[in-house]
Amino acid sequence: MKIGILKESQKGEKRVAISPKIVKQLIEKGFEIIVEEDAGNSSKYKNSDFENAGALIERRGVVYKEAKILIKINPFDDDGLKLLDKKHILMCQLFHKSNPELIKKIAAKGATAFSMDAMPRISRAQDMDVLSSQNNLAGYKAVIKGAYEMTKIFPLMMTAAGTITPSRVLVYGVGVAGLQAIATAKRLGAIVEATDIRLETKEQVESLGAKFITVNNDGEKFEGGYAKVASKDYAKRQKEAVNKSLFKADLVITTAMVPGRKSPVLITEDQIDQMQNGAVIIDLAAAQGGNCALSKLNKIVVKNGVKIIGTTIAPESVSTNASDLYAKNMYNFIMHLTENNAFKWDFDDEITDETLIIHEGLIRKNGLKK
Ligand code: NAI
Repeated sequence: MKIGILKESQKGEKRVAISPKIVKQLIEKGFEIIVEEDAGNSSKYKNSDFENAGALIERRGVVYKEAKILIKINPFDDDGLKLLDKKHILMCQLFHKSNPELIKKIAAKGATAFSMDAMPRISRAQDMDVLSSQNNLAGYKAVIKGAYEMTKIFPLMMTAAGTITPSRVLVYGVGVAGLQAIATAKRLGAIVEATDIRLETKEQVESLGAKFITVNNDGEKFEGGYAKVASKDYAKRQKEAVNKSLFKADLVITTAMVPGRKSPVLITEDQIDQMQNGAVIIDLAAAQGGNCALSKLNKIVVKNGVKIIGTTIAPESVSTNASDLYAKNMYNFIMHLTENNAFKWDFDDEITDETLIIHEGLIRKNGLKK
C-alpha cells in the first residue's frame, strides 16, 4: 500500500506529518512512501533525508495520483480537495465538529477520512494521541516564551550584589499542556502554583513539587474525564481562591479548555488591574476565545503594565520535535488499523470507530457504531 506524505500549506506551519525515521519503519512493514517535495524543509528534514530513508520524492499531483493513504497534519484545503478521489484514505486533524463543510466536501468525493483529533482518551490510544503529543510541547514552550517576555529570572540566585528571589508562576488548567508547563517552570526554579476544576489533578500537581489551589467543585459536571462549562458560582469561588496568588504572580499560564466549547474566561479585566506591573499572561486557550478577557490571538495586549499574550503556541515553533512525535503517533495509528499491509476495518474497535469520520463517502456520526 502506498502512503503519501503531503506538504502543509497553512501559513506559519513548519511541521511535517512523517519523519525520515518513521518512513524507514513503515517501509520495513511493507508500505511504499511518497513524500511531496520540500514537505519537511521547515522542520529540518530535507528531501534527501526522506530519500535516504527509502521514500520517493514527487510533486503534489503525483502524490495524490499514486498514494492510497494521504497523511497530513492540518485539514485539507480547497487545492487539496480538488485532487481527492474515492480511492483515498485521509489521515489528519480534521476538527470535524467545527468543520462540517469540509467533511461534506470530502464525503462528496467518495473518500474515506480519519481525524486524528478525534482519538479517544483511553490508555491504549495514548501513543496515537496527537493532541497530547503536541500540547505537551506547547506547555513547555509557553514557559520559555513567558521567561523571554518577563523582566525577571525564574530561580533564586544569591549573588555578591544581593539575593534574587524566585519568580512566581501560576497555571490555570492542569491538562497535558498545564502539567508540562508546571514541570518546566519548576525545573527553571520558579515557585509554581496551579488550579483545575478537576480535583484529581491535585495529586499530579503536587507530585511535580508545585502547590495546588483547591476550589470546591461540588455540583460541577464532567464528561469522560473532561470538564464541562463551569457554573457562575464556581467561577466566583475560583476567583476568591486564586486571586491572592494571581496578584503576586510574575507569569500566568492559562490552558483551561472545554472540548467543543468556547474557553471559560478565568481572568477578568478587573483582576488584571490588580496584578503586578510587569507580569506576563500566556493564554494558550486564545484560539478558543481565551481564558483572559483581554486576550487577542497572536497579539500582545498591555493593560496596567501586564503583558497578555494570546497564542496557541502552535507546536510548529518546535517543529522538529513536534514532527517527530506526530510521526510516531501516525505510525502507531497505522499499525493499529492495518495487518499485513491491509486495513482491518474493525468498526467495533473504539479507536477506529471514533476516528473514522467518513467511510467511502458516508459521513459517520462520531461515536455511533456502523
Ligand atoms: P484540555 O486541554 O481540554 O483542558 C485543560 C484543562 O483545563 C483540563 O484539565 C480541564 O479540567 C481544565 N479546565 C477546564 N475548565 C476549567 C475551569 N473553568 N477552571 C479550571 N480549569 C478548567 O485538557 P487535556 O489536556 O486535553 O486533558 C484532559 C484530560 O484528559 C487529562 O486528565 C489528561 O490526563 C487526559 N488525557 C488522557 C489521555 C489518554 O488516556 N489517552 C490522553 C490525553 C489526555
